[in-house]
Amino acid sequence: MYNASSTDRIEIVGPTNVTSMNEFRRDILKGLTASQKFIPSKYFYDACGSNLFEKICLLPEYYLTRMELSILKDSASAIMENFQGGDLIELGSGASWKVKTLLNVAYQSSLIDIRYIPIDVNELVLKEASKELLSEYPHLKVLGIVADFTKKIEKIPTEREKLFILFGSTIGNFHEKEAITFLRNIAQLMEPNDRFLLGLDMVKPREVLEPAYNDTQGVTSEFNKNILSVVNRKLDANFHLDHFDHYAFFDSEKSQMEMHLRANCKIAAEIKGLNLHITMEKGETIRTEISRKFTIRRAEAMIAEAGFVIKRWFFDPNQWFSLIELTRSTSDLWKRHLNDQLTQRRARKENLRKCKFANMKRPVRMHGKV
Ligand code: SAH
Ligand code: TRP
Repeated sequence: MYNASSTDRIEIVGPTNVTSMNEFRRDILKGLTASQKFIPSKYFYDACGSNLFEKICLLPEYYLTRMELSILKDSASAIMENFQGGDLIELGSGASWKVKTLLNVAYQSSLIDIRYIPIDVNELVLKEASKELLSEYPHLKVLGIVADFTKKIEKIPTEREKLFILFGSTIGNFHEKEAITFLRNIAQLMEPNDRFLLGLDMVKPREVLEPAYNDTQGVTSEFNKNILSVVNRKLDANFHLDHFDHYAFFDSEKSQMEMHLRANCKIAAEIKGLNLHITMEKGETIRTEISRKFTIRRAEAMIAEAGFVIKRWFFDPNQWFSLIELTRSTSDLWKRHLNDQLTQRRARKENLRKCKFANMKRPVRMHGKV
């Protein structure tokens, strides 16, 4: 409704499948007892972490946000052209800045039957961002879902036309196999007319990549170390943040940035919530994030394997970043169709067998007499 109050236009569901304390314990135990220690990167995003991430996006060295926004500004009309109203579903939406470029175009062309569905683990950030959007766009409806997007999300509506969005090269933060599984799960939710807009950071010289994750103001360092505060708070641990240095480098063989916390002295930490004592040598690291950088070929291979077809690529003039518009592959739809048919045929056969068995006269079968 045109002038519905903002409370009528917003619904927030969840937290639905967000990490339980047991899962957090398991993840940290596994990560800190592995030979290369690691902490899953979704634990960056508490209130402080999300705040710091927004600061990262504004850093001069962090070109990703600027590039993606400039591509979006240039391509928003083309992207929204065929969207006849429906659900805009953004995964890992954070502060929901980038989606505004799409909403602005929709509003100009009075394409107002849009529901925005942000999905994020951070409830507070999701709520704040949603409220801001409601006041900026008086027609917009918002269904916020507080959930972990690496798990099954029950609440995603499927009845309307859908445009899925994953900005910020978040797909690069998944390992190769995890990325395929993640993308396949999205493909399963899509109908042939639905689309998926995927932001990817491309391979470029180390001289550009490394400063983007090693800013001179130390914001990325603070963001990285904050993950230890999360462990300290949730598991009653005593990691000294000053005993670690932020360490980010480009691994050209794997074509990925890696972020670590490197011990600058011998570490002895107590994690009471796990009943665990951790020691680390000076120089030993905890890996906290990877950020894979793509070539066109690698991106194409990942996309095909995940069951998508590329409709269009959008680049900035230097091809530093890209947005890819995807639909689900019809051969994949065929596979699903054939699978369904096979299952149905098996069920029919099984039914027939049961019927035949039921129709047989018991004594005949039981005594083997014909
Ligand atoms: N899309 C925004 C933010 C990217 S940062 C941009 O492009 O600038 C990644 C976002 O994903 C954060 O808001 C974080 O809270 C969220 N996030 C990280 N791991 C997640 C997970 N497993 N499930 C849901 N959201 C997650
Ligand atoms: N996906 C973005 C990237 O890889 C944002 C991001 C995730 C990030 N984790 C980060 C940025 C850690 C800096 C530090 O760049």
